[in-house]
Amino acid sequence: MAYDTIVTEVKGRVGLITLNRPKALNALNSQLIEELNLALDEYERNPDIGCIVLAGSEKAFAAGADIKEMSVLEYPQIYLDDFFAQADRIGQRRKPMIAAVAGFALGGGCELALMCDFIYAGDNARFGQPEINLGVLPGIGGTQRLTRALGKAKAMEMCLTGRQMDAKEAETAGLVAQVFPVDQLLEETLKAATTIAEKSLPSTMMTKEAVNRVFETSLAEGVRFERRIFHAIFATHDQKEGMNAFVEKRKPDFKHQ
Ligand code: HXC
Repeated sequence: MAYDTIVTEVKGRVGLITLNRPKALNALNSQLIEELNLALDEYERNPDIGCIVLAGSEKAFAAGADIKEMSVLEYPQIYLDDFFAQADRIGQRRKPMIAAVAGFALGGGCELALMCDFIYAGDNARFGQPEINLGVLPGIGGTQRLTRALGKAKAMEMCLTGRQMDAKEAETAGLVAQVFPVDQLLEETLKAATTIAEKSLPSTMMTKEAVNRVFETSLAEGVRFERRIFHAIFATHDQKEGMNAFVEKRKPDFKHQ
């Protein structure tokens, strides 16, 4: 499908989505959110896609929600329309998703990256929640996901002051998994995505579901959840294939079922 605000490309078993509103530094307007969801729907439905990569440009992953679009909104209409409810769907995807962040990831851009399962950053990446400078606050999960990622001290400081964090600090603080020279970011992200996409899809999806339980439940419940799906995965072809291949000293031939 052709889109106006994003570009989609399938690379082997990886579905790449590149945000493409260069004149607005990839600011997230309603059209972009809608198109992003349509592309994600397509990749989630496609059994030949095992991992999704979300990227921006070298200058900006995304500079936030579109301020020009938001500036004219009024309450109660924004409440009645449940503005940004569609953005929540991005964070509810079941296949593994990696954000490749170069340049600015501010406001909604930082929140979008946080909706992915992990973030790889270019060495020029800058993360921030500058909504406080606009007289508002993060509205797509930033206060929650950033705090879970960084802990209270740094998240509160960033949300209250609006200061930006560079790639090095973001890596040290645990916000990003790895930092790469910006010209190698996409290649390295696609490499990791390919590694994930070649594993058995039920096991990557269940792993994602289990890790995310950490943020929803107690340790005992989380471990019980993990145990139930660990038992269930013995019903898959790929569990038999993966274990037999190890015993027979060969590469597994996963069927993703
Ligand atoms: C709309 C944006 C934009 C945004 C940049 N642009 N960010 N348009 N929404 N979030 C536009 C600019 O208006 C400009 O368009 C063009 O992109 C280039 O931006 P410049 O400012 O000229 O670039 P530069 O000087 O390099 O500065 C880059 C920047 C700055 C530091 C990233 O653009 C910036 O501060 N942007 C806003 C960041 C922000 O506050 N984000 C949070 C948004 S609120 P023109 O047409 O003038 O050339 C948010 C809330 C989410 O995300 C939840 C709410 C419910």
